[in-house]
Amino acid sequence: MNPRPSIAFAKFAAPQTAANRKGTVFVLSADDGGLSDAARAYDPGKTLERAFPVAEFTGKFAGVVEILAPEGASLDRLVAIGAGKATGLDEYAWLKLGGTIAASLRKATDVAVVLDLIGASIDGKDAANLAAGILLRSYSFDKYKTSKDKDDAKADPKKPAKISIHTTDPAGAKKAFADAEAVIDGVLLARDLVNEPANILGPVEFAARAKELETLGVKVEILAEKEMKKLGMGSLLGVAQGSPRGARMAVMQWNGGKPKESPIAFVGKGVTFDTGGNSMKPASGMEDMKGDMGGAAAVTGLMHALAARKAKANVVGIIGLVENAVDGHAQRPGDIVTSMSGQTIEVLNTDAEGRLVLADALWYCNDRFQPKFMVNLATLTGAIMVALGLHYAGLFSNNDELAERLAAAGQATQERLWRMPLGAEYDKLIDSKNADMKNIGGRYGGAIIAAQFLQRFVKDTPWAHLDIAGTAMGSPSNEINQSWGSGFGVRLLDRLVRDHYES
Ligand code: BES
Ligand code: ZN
Ligand code: ZN
Repeated sequence: MNPRPSIAFAKFAAPQTAANRKGTVFVLSADDGGLSDAARAYDPGKTLERAFPVAEFTGKFAGVVEILAPEGASLDRLVAIGAGKATGLDEYAWLKLGGTIAASLRKATDVAVVLDLIGASIDGKDAANLAAGILLRSYSFDKYKTSKDKDDAKADPKKPAKISIHTTDPAGAKKAFADAEAVIDGVLLARDLVNEPANILGPVEFAARAKELETLGVKVEILAEKEMKKLGMGSLLGVAQGSPRGARMAVMQWNGGKPKESPIAFVGKGVTFDTGGNSMKPASGMEDMKGDMGGAAAVTGLMHALAARKAKANVVGIIGLVENAVDGHAQRPGDIVTSMSGQTIEVLNTDAEGRLVLADALWYCNDRFQPKFMVNLATLTGAIMVALGLHYAGLFSNNDELAERLAAAGQATQERLWRMPLGAEYDKLIDSKNADMKNIGGRYGGAIIAAQFLQRFVKDTPWAHLDIAGTAMGSPSNEINQSWGSGFGVRLLDRLVRDHYES
């Protein structure tokens, strides 16, 4: 689609300069269908407003109407975007309006957005969110498209749009956008990681991407097999042993909070490809398992966001990176492995590997950092997609306060979470005849069983598990995302940190 636009903020232009302007101008209109004076200055002949009834444009949220070369103004194009009810536009609404603008850019390079709306007072944060929405929607993963086809976009590449957002408070907008852009860059990093194919991005290459966060001031340690073996991570290493591509654990620390204050922690499943191992997956749809590191991508994107906006919090991010592949060394159903916790696990299905990776990652995190809480993210089960579809991620937690805060952050960012149960009846389903536990339960409640398994590795530390199998990849595209990898979790967790854990 579009190369990344560049964004600047400016005061409203005077009508005289507006009349001399070339390029595309976006204006907003609330559901009464009228334009503000600042917007009208670009439409002296009222061509746009006269087009509203013919185009059946009522100002409905995210509605679009455009006219070319309006009378009396030397613009190329004037576009009205519906803002719906002018009062009560929240953070997500501004992101969506930005997304709607990005979707209507076409080949425009010289773009102005007149951020004025009858009945609304628009502040710097709103302007920053609109800009963020433009960037989110403009993302596409096309680095491997080299087609020389004349009709192909690459043969006639678009130039990046220069977008000037006109607002009453450009300085405030610029300041708010610095933070918003840090978060957007984290989301786009997570999308890139999820979209990247597994031949390019294995555990070693992913670890190298995590290491790059050092340029932002994140401390990054990479544990290789030898260190993990010494630590006793038999559960994680058992998954990796069928792949020649090794295993890594990246330990990222952002210390922006008070010195010595114990950190909060995020842990991600990073299975760079999940064949299922000896319990092999069917061929159809297996390609999607390049995204089985969506949890690790979200944690890495979050660490990027927090460091780039210099969050005032101490945060640990840990990702377990393996490829679940099959060769003669691959783990077999029935194998018994010993986790770092000392607990033994009978591996009855080698495709239930994410929990085996997280068991050691969670234990290590808790043991080394004694965090205030741990939140893990994982594309863990197909069962969560059966339960919740593609619009909510599953939330499991041993702590009501943490669960409520996460759910609220989910509502605010529209990266929504639905709380699922945990309990002793489910827990006993993973008791094993031959070891302390087995890695699968019965036929029903697969997402809950997986969560129960994880809970055996967190002791009493407040913990939440987000099963993002339905939301991290392949979820329906929307106003702010058109890419297969969604970057789900970055905006959500940034919001959690921002709302509750910054000093
Ligand atoms: N990575 C998968 C879960 C998954 C499925 C993620 C579809 C995204 C889309 C996970 O490792 C897995 O294979 N889980 C099994 C568990 C089962 C063997 C108990 C599943 O969900 O079928
Ligand atoms: Zn699997
Ligand atoms: Zn998996």
